[in-house]
Amino acid sequence: MGLMQVIVELKEMQSRSEAIRLQGKRLGCVPTMGALHEGHLELMREAKRRTGVVAASVFVNPTQFAPAEDLANYPRDREGDLKKMESAGVDIAFFPTAEAMYPKEARTWVTVEEITQELEGASRPTHFRGVTTVVLKLFHLMKPHLAVFGQKDYQQLKVIERMVKNLDLDIEIVPHPTVREPDGLAMSSRNRYLNPEERKQATALIRAIKKAQELVKQGECDPKKLVDEAKKIISKEPLAKADYVEVRDPETLKPIRRIEKSARMLLAVRVGKTRLIDNAELIR
Ligand code: PAJ
Repeated sequence: MGLMQVIVELKEMQSRSEAIRLQGKRLGCVPTMGALHEGHLELMREAKRRTGVVAASVFVNPTQFAPAEDLANYPRDREGDLKKMESAGVDIAFFPTAEAMYPKEARTWVTVEEITQELEGASRPTHFRGVTTVVLKLFHLMKPHLAVFGQKDYQQLKVIERMVKNLDLDIEIVPHPTVREPDGLAMSSRNRYLNPEERKQATALIRAIKKAQELVKQGECDPKKLVDEAKKIISKEPLAKADYVEVRDPETLKPIRRIEKSARMLLAVRVGKTRLIDNAELIR
């Protein structure tokens, strides 16, 4: 495919995808909310390697923000995003509008139960309903054979995998490892809100994870001990405040009493006013 095509209209997106499928090509997709960074671009390159044709969407999805959260302040950079997408080999840049995605009469939601109620869902009860609804809509619009999602948002990845499985969607979900800054901070559109002092203290998240991984390697199997050690590291940073630090079953995300083979550490930490999340596998 030559130059990147930009599509705004929903029907045009669907007919373009249909045409690509009729040519016998495989189509990959990467849904995003824009303000693209190297993490997003890695997902797009991965989709490109696996399929050859990539559609990436930029849509700041209003239904996954809580009323008190800053939908209006979410970073937007359309020109920058277009250049980055083109450089990552994206063939179709899809920029639907909120009016088209959520017309006034919209009353239909997709809800994955249980796994959506804790961790990120505990403080934001309708967040994942917004994510699954928009992702299913984007799947119907972009009609991909596969979709790449980042492990950075691990719970989101697991929720989407569950939706795909339970609704028999014929789409392969490809997880991509978290892309990090050289000092280990997970890349995020929100990192730009950190001032220099906060940016330094934000490395507490990856240091807490590394500590837990080290202890597990040394034979520690008690989730509570790991959580305590991780919290200690975070509490040493005056601007950081842990929202949650948990060690969970890697598939169900339910609490575990002991680490058998592997587990997932997930944490959310406020650094100044910015809420950061991170997670990693703990392997014995
Ligand atoms: P957004 O936060 O823009 O993220 C888009 C995709 O990029 C997600 O799959 C996310 O996990 C991935 N991503 C973000 N930072 C990453 C990093 N440092 N390393 C690897 N992958 C990373 O997640 C969303 O948007 C939305 O909820 C969305 C799925 C688009 C639905 O609105």
